[in-house]
Amino acid sequence: MKITWYGHSAVMVDDGVKILIDPFIEGNPLSPVKASDLHPDIILVTHGHGDHLGNAIEIAKENNVSIVAIYELAEYLSSKGVNAIGMNFSGSFEFKGKTITMVYALHSAGISMDNFDHSGGLPCGFVIRGTRTVYHAGDTGIFGDMKLIGELYRPEISLLPIGGFFTMGIREAALAAKMLGSKIVIPIHYNTFDAIRQDPEMLKKELKGVSEVVILKPGQTGEF
Ligand code: NI
Ligand code: MN
Repeated sequence: MKITWYGHSAVMVDDGVKILIDPFIEGNPLSPVKASDLHPDIILVTHGHGDHLGNAIEIAKENNVSIVAIYELAEYLSSKGVNAIGMNFSGSFEFKGKTITMVYALHSAGISMDNFDHSGGLPCGFVIRGTRTVYHAGDTGIFGDMKLIGELYRPEISLLPIGGFFTMGIREAALAAKMLGSKIVIPIHYNTFDAIRQDPEMLKKELKGVSEVVILKPGQTGEF
């Protein structure tokens, strides 16, 4: 399984099937690629904030692929002419041999497009079960039910926000990794903007002997 990070929360999980998550590409100061460079088989969006919904609509239309999101956000996406699959917490969606499960996230979720006209439902994370099990936490504060996510799905790889201010910081992400029981942690949602400056090496220190922290450079692919 290959995981490519484009900066912020934008990630491509390639497990034979290309799953693109939170494609905030244009306007993302870290992204070394253009939205038109990305050709996923499916797109997952954790919530409607502009730094997550990002270029999902155009990429979906350009490649004629679906977007998976929480029900209310999916309705909004459908109104924009996208084939959107609306689901909800603990629900799973089978896609080309991979199981995509929607899990809870502790955050806000208004759709920050069209002048905040849309509630956007609730924010979520995703667990993808393929050759490995990966958890993308989306934007979230820490919450105790991460222990449940660990117990139920045993994510070997967790993509966790560490930038603080809008999400977990280092301290919270370290405890989250322990609750999840993930052997590999990939930090996301940091150093995109001044408000979320963070040194990912600090997470490495915090998790020494517990989890391997894989720090990807924007555009870099890790093989797992
Ligand atoms: Ni957000
Ligand atoms: Mn965000």
